Amino acid sequence: MSQAEFQTGETFALAMDERDSLRDFRERFLFPESRGRECIYLCGHSLGLQPKTAASYVEQELKDWAQLGVEGHFHAKYPWMPYHRLLAEQTAELVGAKPIEVVVMNSLTVNLHLMMVSFYRPTRERNKILIERGAFPSDQYAVKSQIRYHGFEPEAALLELTPRAGEDCMRDEDIEELIERSGNEIALILLGGVNYATGQAFDMERIAWIGRKRGCVVGFDLAHAVGNLPLKLHEWGPDFAVWCSYKYLNGGPGCIGGCFVHERHAQAWNLPRLTGWWGHDEKTRFKMGPDFQPMAGADGWQLSNPPIVSLAVLRASMEIFGSAGMDRLRTKSASLTGYLEYLLNCQKTAAFSIITPPETQRRGAQLSIRILKNGRGVCEQLIGEGILGDWREPDTYRVAPVPLYNTYLDVFQFVRRFTAATS
Ligand SMILES: Cc1ncc(COP(=O)(O)O)c(C=O)c1O
Repeated sequence: MSQAEFQTGETFALAMDERDSLRDFRERFLFPESRGRECIYLCGHSLGLQPKTAASYVEQELKDWAQLGVEGHFHAKYPWMPYHRLLAEQTAELVGAKPIEVVVMNSLTVNLHLMMVSFYRPTRERNKILIERGAFPSDQYAVKSQIRYHGFEPEAALLELTPRAGEDCMRDEDIEELIERSGNEIALILLGGVNYATGQAFDMERIAWIGRKRGCVVGFDLAHAVGNLPLKLHEWGPDFAVWCSYKYLNGGPGCIGGCFVHERHAQAWNLPRLTGWWGHDEKTRFKMGPDFQPMAGADGWQLSNPPIVSLAVLRASMEIFGSAGMDRLRTKSASLTGYLEYLLNCQKTAAFSIITPPETQRRGAQLSIRILKNGRGVCEQLIGEGILGDWREPDTYRVAPVPLYNTYLDVFQFVRRFTAATS
């Protein structure tokens, strides 16, 4: 829906919710409460809500553990040995990959390191890593440690994409220009699919294409993109991608993460990698031999047997994603976030401004709002009123209406209370 079609009144929000073909999905989630009422939860970019079915998925595994003990590895209702495979197809579909290209394992930063061990191969001529300025701190720490590990210095080997003076977001043409200009020095391009602070979505297809054309390895941190934007990783062709599953994927705090390795590396046995027994060919894994024989594809990067309880919660959530469908979710998301932007812009105030790009294709669900004065206080006041967004220093309030469980009425009520708190 375009900005011109939105209206300011509450009846418009109610009518939009009435027409929403995804509205029943809200009933599948548990909402935190404040003063006996459901919160207006706009924090799915940080921690998604708990699916109501999560408890029964976890209980099944606890029951099988209680009744079967170690036998559960092979005889549980959903045997634990191949349990992670139950997620392969849905995960592949969600990120636009082939099943052999994805695996759920570890957490995001661990997977990022594993990928860099294999794919960051600096030489004297080509040793730089390109990231966005203001990349998530864990990514900054990880790439700097990898640079030092290879005997280089971050001061020289870390290249940062920086917005133009007075701007908050990167221009697509500036990203392209930098990759074209410095591509022969860049060993690895590592960008977020969506920047955690500004909410800017990058043109991953174009970046992967230009980067690879210039001979760079391309990796994406999809923490804020997975379950938020439709992705076509196989087609776009990055070498790898990593993500966490506790934001838009609703897998629960600290949930197991995910990893994509492009099919062209599926049999790249000569790549250096850190290894563990779960990456060993499953046909001979329990022969307990001393020599590592990797599985083909992303599976070959696994280290340990995965946490079944965490996988169980993720399964509960992925079933919901499967029935909603990413394309339908994205259509609603673009409209819901557009509506939020429209209502905020109607306020015509200097007290706050939106720093996320206005173009739908350059953002996901999240809007980042710069608050001029006492922003942290505003955030805390709203939490006290049962409205959950979050605060990022120095001046950014982040909110994301999530299409699986947020409504137009949520957005309407949020803007009314937010405007009162900032005026
Ligand atoms: C963009 C981004 N990268 C990396 C991380 C770190 O994730 P983890 O703690 O799962 O390693 C986060 C966490 O919120 C994030 O938002």
